[in-house]
Amino acid sequence: MELTQQQIEAFDKDGYLFFPELFTPEEVKKLNEAVPELYDRREAYNVREKGSQAVRTNFAAHLYSAPFARLGRHPRMVKPVEQVFGEKLYMHQFKINGKMAFEGDVWQWHQDYGTWINDDMMPEPRAMNVAIFLDDVNQYNGPLMFIPGSHKRGVLKAGHDLTTTSYPLWTIDNQLIRQLVERAGGREGGIVSPQGPAGSMILFHGCLVHSSTSNLSPWNRVSVYLSLCAVSNHIRRFKRPEYIAHRDFTPIECLPDDCLLSDHPVDLPWGNGMPNSALETSLEKIPA
Ligand code: SIN
Ligand code: MN
Repeated sequence: MELTQQQIEAFDKDGYLFFPELFTPEEVKKLNEAVPELYDRREAYNVREKGSQAVRTNFAAHLYSAPFARLGRHPRMVKPVEQVFGEKLYMHQFKINGKMAFEGDVWQWHQDYGTWINDDMMPEPRAMNVAIFLDDVNQYNGPLMFIPGSHKRGVLKAGHDLTTTSYPLWTIDNQLIRQLVERAGGREGGIVSPQGPAGSMILFHGCLVHSSTSNLSPWNRVSVYLSLCAVSNHIRRFKRPEYIAHRDFTPIECLPDDCLLSDHPVDLPWGNGMPNSALETSLEKIPA
């Protein structure tokens, strides 16, 4: 899938692109069917909501689940990002966010690159999120919210919030959010929220300011996020466990476009369990 000149210009201006129904219901079904068993596992890579058993984020499924290993090498997700960066990519992070019915908690306003630079020492914001909806996303089940154009502001001042939710995040304070939304058009487009059927895809810049509210609806909002990083821009330290911030900088080779339906064979390096080394962390800078 190639982005058009018009899409590249829109991405540059707004910091995101939305592709409604890019994956078919049959393709989404293959992915969805694999989620409950992954969420049932009592493993470090399943982060649950505060005071609840609901999974907030499952990490690294592309290393131990065949359908998600295929998704992690899917040309519809990987090629557009390769095109934007003009370089091969590796998987920096892979997550299946639950945002489960009634239980899914908020994601405060943040930029992902804030975490990637502060925790992982990623040199430049040459990494991007690509999200695919596994459930329909509507105004009720905690859709993502973006401040269009906020990626142009580079890295914004952020504080490390360790208490609001079960997952730490470098978050942006309300006063700055107010200003950014005002500058982006206030009530006229200062916040946007791409919503649509399961199978829709969003691509968004690592510096785009985003958040989502809790999910009080009876509908799950499961979405998969690939954070794809230009290989030359790999992280420089392993402060976070490997299941959260990956340490294998091998360029991703795409599978055929029909890989989800054809059950294309894939390697599952963590298929027999996550190695203990994936839990080891360090504040040292890795040798160049
Ligand atoms: C994220 O910002 O990483 C996740 C937000 C969401 O799933 O709503
Ligand atoms: Mn984020």
